Amino acid sequence: MIILGFESSCDETGVAAVCTERGLLAHALHTQIAMHQEYGGVVPELASRDHIRRVVPLTRQVLDEAGLQMSDIGAVAYTAGPGLAGALLVGASVAQSFAWARHLPAIGIHHLEGHLLSPMLADPRPDFPFVALLVSGGHTQLMRVDGVGQYELLGETLDDAAGEAFDKSAKLMGLGYPGGPALAKLAGSGDAARFDLPRPMLHSGDLDFSFSGLKTAVLTRVKAAEAAGGLDEQGRADLAAATQAAIVEVLAAKAIRALKQTGLKRLVVAGGVGANQLLRAKLDAALKPLKARAYFPPLALCTDNGAMIAFAAAERVKAGLATLDADAHSFTVKP
Ligand code: KG4
Ligand code: ZN
Repeated sequence: MIILGFESSCDETGVAAVCTERGLLAHALHTQIAMHQEYGGVVPELASRDHIRRVVPLTRQVLDEAGLQMSDIGAVAYTAGPGLAGALLVGASVAQSFAWARHLPAIGIHHLEGHLLSPMLADPRPDFPFVALLVSGGHTQLMRVDGVGQYELLGETLDDAAGEAFDKSAKLMGLGYPGGPALAKLAGSGDAARFDLPRPMLHSGDLDFSFSGLKTAVLTRVKAAEAAGGLDEQGRADLAAATQAAIVEVLAAKAIRALKQTGLKRLVVAGGVGANQLLRAKLDAALKPLKARAYFPPLALCTDNGAMIAFAAAERVKAGLATLDADAHSFTVKP
């Protein structure tokens, strides 16, 4: 069965075709970063309007690239939430209309399940069971994953998400939107040892996280520097490196703790922060002596995309977990 998937939860319009037997056939993505940049963050109304503009051309592109006709599609999938309400409605409405017009089943997918299973789009593909570290702009969670739909929450952030810590710290340093990649880039030329930042909950003994204190610590350093004449370019790079090092150290330590606690040897990292090169390198190095292994989604599929939504739907279909009744249209969107 070929599934056409739509992602529109935030500032990326993603469309993809995935075959339950052959895997990813084609995917297309439009990012709204340039549009939101001048506002320093995502403007929900602009996001919704842009999804409307992009979704049909992207769908055409995917069908063309995969050499598919509309009649080849067996089911439609869409991100049902969480996300921006108006943005979600665009993907859901298009998917439901498409399904209704062609009498196809429509499968609502939880955005985080999309991220969670996205490392299975890489080669090699991790086998179940595994521990998943889900690190996006809105979530930071550790999960035990025993199979499709079998997810046990092991720990999560009590306040800000890891991506939020990157973004908010970047904003405090005067870096543009989106802050995470900008901060990571600047950190490359910085010396992390120049600023001593806290590692919140590193020794809390559980698998929870907290990043709001780190953001406050960054603010304190920025204010102190401003009082002393402001951060120069090297100072900003050093603070960026220190911030990245603090976030990555906590994420890696808790992920390793989760592996030890569950006795599992596979760690899957998903969500936008999974694109962070320091996190990747740190986990690769730390897992080797434990005879464990980290799996990451292909870089292009770390942040939001349609491939992960179509793929999660395909995995649900294969596991018998999707309702394939074309008449059972439940229009679900949960912001
Ligand atoms: O998964 P995602 O695209 O959207 C959500 O579902 O939230 O994640 C976006 C987050 C943002 O906070 C962004 O700053 C962060 O991922 N991010 C990064 C990097 N690339 C994206 N954070 C650190 N280093 C990166 N290279
Ligand atoms: Zn996401």
